[in-house]
Formats: sequence, C-alpha cells, structure tokens
Amino acid sequence: MSVTVIEGSQWGDEGKGKITDYLASQSDIVVRFQGGNNAGHTICFNGKRFALRSLPSGIFNSNITNVIADGVVLNPFSLKEEIEGIKSSGITDFKLLISNRCHLIMPYHLDLDGAYENLLSDKKIGTTKKGIGPCYVDKAARRGIRAGDLLEKDFLKEKLKDTLKVKNLELRSLGLKEYDLEDLYNKLIEIGDYLKKYIADSQYFLINALEENKNILFEGAQGMMLDIDRGTYPYVTSSSPSSNYVSQGAGIPPQAINRVVAICKAYTTRVGEGPFPTELHNEIGDLIREKGHEYGTVTKRPRRVGYLDLVVVKRNLKMSGASEIALMLFDVLENIDHLKICINYELDGKIIDYVPASLNEYSRCKPIYKEFKKFSFSDKIHSFNELPIEAKEYISFIEEFTGVKVKILSIGSDRNATLVR
Ligand code: IMO
Ligand code: MG
Repeated sequence: MSVTVIEGSQWGDEGKGKITDYLASQSDIVVRFQGGNNAGHTICFNGKRFALRSLPSGIFNSNITNVIADGVVLNPFSLKEEIEGIKSSGITDFKLLISNRCHLIMPYHLDLDGAYENLLSDKKIGTTKKGIGPCYVDKAARRGIRAGDLLEKDFLKEKLKDTLKVKNLELRSLGLKEYDLEDLYNKLIEIGDYLKKYIADSQYFLINALEENKNILFEGAQGMMLDIDRGTYPYVTSSSPSSNYVSQGAGIPPQAINRVVAICKAYTTRVGEGPFPTELHNEIGDLIREKGHEYGTVTKRPRRVGYLDLVVVKRNLKMSGASEIALMLFDVLENIDHLKICINYELDGKIIDYVPASLNEYSRCKPIYKEFKKFSFSDKIHSFNELPIEAKEYISFIEEFTGVKVKILSIGSDRNATLVR
C-alpha cells in the first residue's frame, strides 16, 4: 500500500499537475484535500493541454476514484463547467466523489473577494478572486453551506435564510448587490440535482480504502509559501497546502502517509503580491517567463520570476517531512548564463538561513547566491546519467543543501519528458 502526498514547496505553480498525473497511474484514488478552484493544474497528453481547477488530476483515468475531500472549498457552479468541459473533450468515463462535508463557495463569496481586494487598493493580496478566502471565513464562522446541505432541501432553505441575513448585511455595507433567498435557493437546488450522484461521505470512503490497502495519492494545491500559517502572511491563500494538513483535510491518521513528494521548480515564480527575495527584474527573468510559459492558468497574469531559493525550499521540505523532490521545468534553465541559487539571506547586515515570520523583515531580505555554470542538452536525454556535468552539479547541490534526493526530473511539458531515478 502506498499513501503518497504531492505538495508544492514554493509559491505554487511548481508543476504539481504533471507529477500527480504521472503518479496517479499507480494509484487507485486521487484526493484534493484543501484549497479550491484557485488551483490551476495543467496536464498535457496526446498533444492536448488540460487545465484542472477543482477536479483531482486522476480524472482522465477511468480506473481511479477522484475525491474532493472535506478540507476543500468547492464552487459547485464552476465544477459543473469543468465536468462539462472534460466531457466535451471525450472524457465521459470517470469516477468522482465529493465530500458531503466540504464547504461551498457561493456567488457572494466571489463578490466579497473582489470588494475586500478593492478596499485594500495598493496593499491588495492579489487573490485569484475565486472567493476562496471569504468561503473559509464563513466555514470558521460556522455559517458555511456544505455540499451535503444540497441534498436536504428544507434544511438548506433554513440555513441559507440564516446565512443570507449576515451576508446581505455585509454586502449592503460594501455597496454590493444583495441576494434573494428564493432565487439563490433555486439555483442551489438545480446544481444539487446535477451534483448529487457524486456527493458522499468521503471520510469513511478513505478510511475504508486504507483498510483495503489501496494506493492513495493526495494532491496538494498551491505551495507552502502560500500556507495560511507559515507562508508570507497576509500574502497567502486561506488553507494549508502541505502534507501537514492532509490528515485534517481528508480525515485520515497522519501515520498513514508513507511518501511525501515535494514538487520544486528549478527556479522560482510567484503570482500575486508579497515579498519574493530572488525576484528578477531583468532580461533573464523575462527569458525564463517566456521559455517556461509563466502565465497564470487561472488568471492569465504574468508570473513573477526569480532564481531558485533554497532557503525557502529547505524550510518547507523539513517542515513537511518530504521524502523526495520532483524537480520541475529543468529544461527551461538550459542555455541560461549565470545561473544562481539562493543559499542565505542578508537581513540588515546579518547573514540568516531562515524565512523570517515578520513580513517587514522578509521584505528587507537580500539573497546571497551561489553561481552555477550554464548547461545545454546535446541530444535527447533518456536518463539522469545522460545529463551534462553542469546540470548534474546544479541538481547535486540541491540535494546536498536540502538533504533530500531528487527522484524525479522533468525536462519538458509532455508526460514522457520525465526522468525517474
Ligand atoms: P496552484 O495549485 C499560484 C495565490 C494568489 C494570491 C494568493 C491568495 O496552481 O499552484 P487566493 O485566491 O487563494 O485567496 O489568493 O495565493 N495563489 C496561487 N498562486 N498557484 C496557485 O495554485 C495559487 N492559488 C492561489 O495568486 O497571491
Ligand atoms: Mg496555478
């Protein structure tokens, strides 16, 4: 039995979709355990590119059960669009299970996400405006609507009535349109009818699957620098994307996990605002952005680009108990002069080797780099051994510095361009 977690070790967009798709083929079950449709997981095969948002990455394989677990926030309307989208591209035979405990992103959450951002003006977080934060707020405030509520029509109406009392007050105070109970209720009943065949108790399903020794893959969205507790708060998302949260978000015991694959881009990117010590504002950054197609899957925003920051990665690997690294988009660095890796920061004249909790301190951190030689791939590379010596040096340094082995190396966007050690 293998219970594997895939987690992003930077600021998201590390290439998690590709590795999840790759490891999914060896799994019986693929599970999303946090976040929502702020995620954009790109999967390429048969020359086609699919962007998944809420659907787990095992959805293209009809033998895999895909679970949207308790800790996720789910927009039922956008999920329907996503399901219809994959159906229209010929994928009709899939297994999906939605936790009856997961919280629903409601239309007013999207309105509030936008309004709060506008209020912050130049201090805005740069959210995906998918209503993620406001939905988690209502979950914690105990007035959220859950997927299971869609199946209890009378209860849903009562609950929605109570929730709307508060939400409409909030919307009104922000000068936004209020929601009509009957109207929203009818929309929820309609979407509930569409989704009801997928809604179930995923926690029991997963516990039983563990007892039956099934292979389960937990697919993290976002990255650990966006973690609500340990990221660059407040420039973070509203959930915890690491292995640390799998147990809570899916309802399984922590000791069930036996493999944690940290996904790490060979350089660094970030979308949205917030400190980013190794950010490049020069032609090398532009080159990496173009070569790596570094534009948001969800929002199409150009991503901020920088050198690999191992202070960040090492902290996150240690925190989450990573057992191996999947190093992604390595081919993007081919033929780039003066490659650098950040190994420490300088903070007010002192050398430090950690990520400070204070946003002000982190904003003052300057990267200290080690430089690496340019590498080029002469022919098609089929194994680690065929890599040029300069490329091997870059990879070995990551391993030595973090104490974690690079077991998977991606050298192209297609499924086949993946080297495994
Ligand atoms: P994947 O799974 C990169 C960022 C947003 C913003 C902050 C808060 O594709 O790696 P939110 O909408 O979550 O409240 O926005 O988090 N963010 C991501 N950045 N990849 C993601 O997901 C992200 N999901 C959220 O840009 O800075
Ligand atoms: Mg993304």
